[in-house]
Amino acid sequence: MHDFRYVGKKLYCEGVALDTLARKFGTPLYVYSQHTLTDHFQKLDRAVAGVEHLICFAVKSNSNRSVLRTLALLGSGFDIVSGGELQRVIEAGGDPQRCVFAGVGKTESEIEIALRKAIYSFNVESEPELERINRIAARLKKIAPVAVRVNPDIAAGTHKKITTGTYENKFGIPFENIEGVYARASRLKNLRLRGLQMHIGSQITTVDPFDRAVRKVVPLVLRLKNKYGLEFFSIGGGSGIVYQHALASGDAAWWKSVQSNNILTPRKYAAQLLPLLQPLGLRILMEPGRFISGNAGVLITRVEYVKRTGRKNFLIVDAAMNDLIRPALYEAYHEIVPLLRKNGARAESDVVGPICESGDSFCHDRPLPKVGEGDYLALMSAGAYGSVMASNYNTRALAAEILVNGRQAAIVRDRQAVKKIWAGEKTAPWLKQHRASRHQSSVTS
Ligand code: LLP
Repeated sequence: MHDFRYVGKKLYCEGVALDTLARKFGTPLYVYSQHTLTDHFQKLDRAVAGVEHLICFAVKSNSNRSVLRTLALLGSGFDIVSGGELQRVIEAGGDPQRCVFAGVGKTESEIEIALRKAIYSFNVESEPELERINRIAARLKKIAPVAVRVNPDIAAGTHKKITTGTYENKFGIPFENIEGVYARASRLKNLRLRGLQMHIGSQITTVDPFDRAVRKVVPLVLRLKNKYGLEFFSIGGGSGIVYQHALASGDAAWWKSVQSNNILTPRKYAAQLLPLLQPLGLRILMEPGRFISGNAGVLITRVEYVKRTGRKNFLIVDAAMNDLIRPALYEAYHEIVPLLRKNGARAESDVVGPICESGDSFCHDRPLPKVGEGDYLALMSAGAYGSVMASNYNTRALAAEILVNGRQAAIVRDRQAVKKIWAGEKTAPWLKQHRASRHQSSVTS
């Protein structure tokens, strides 16, 4: 469910018409619904109420400070993957003691800051990392809470670039090695073995891969709990969302009709997994990113040109792969709808950005309503892994971001000023002495 729907001809986010925002703040423009974020968090929270749990929102999916603050106020913890993300969480008013720190490449300074801020747990991905954390904790005269990330070697049935729980992947420690690693880690004086963690992949749309992984790992967790007094088991994130017909999923009737079909809902997730997790008698952590933020955001873009080539109908828009890279990187599907609903004819269209790469495209030959220059389109389901993956490629400024709450809308990230893009760049001293030549002598002579 989400809070984007047509009222009459206009697409709204909660109580705000999106075309008003597009005109006021310009495009490309990310818009997030606070109610959707809240609703998704609470749906999951309620579904797993049968076990002691902590939801740690995956900051990497959407790290806007207002998004983080919305979740912090609901009592969410955070799954972080860098020192920068920890600082953001703290800036947003999140509690470091509800933070888990993942990632295969934690640097010494990141470990030190996380220890000083007393995070809940490091989710450790290798033996050298355990030793490094132990060494830094000893220097700071602290005891570091750690969980090892187990790689259960379970295929998640998702895109290969977002599969993380097989032995082809760089993540975690192989299932068979875990007990030996805990035995060695238990001898490191400045570590406290607090839990075990796994994360098998992202955009997983059925419970089965989670079910298989949990069944495989639960006996191991029990053994480790009995031996080392673990306090938690984290099943990671990865719950998939609806991308196809994303707009329809804002409609309650549609949502009801799919409950029984093959769509992963918090209820289904909980109904199948809680009976496996309850007997552990441990605190269960979850690290959802996309489930909470994915359908809580859209990217609004303006049609600059309609270019017909005989073969193709290109809608050239002002958003590009630097704003939303998922289609280019994963061939991901994002539903595309006009902000002003159009009835009537559709045309097979390619929605493409202005960047000089053929991969800079949001869809191919998709039947879309006929739109023209100046019309606005919304790329749906862009709240997760959208703005966070944006870049300045082609010296394009980062888009502005808006948070909507009922009838209120606030800018929660200014559009980047173009000059800020090169603000940190310097001219090398030896290049300053000469005036740039006005002519290219060899070309013209
Ligand atoms: N926990 C860990 C350790 C993770 O690595 C991730 C995501 C999550 C939790 C949250 O996963 P989620 O619930 O959002 O699926 N850029 C890709 C997705 C990369 C996911 C990376 N790790 C995309 O746009 O599909």
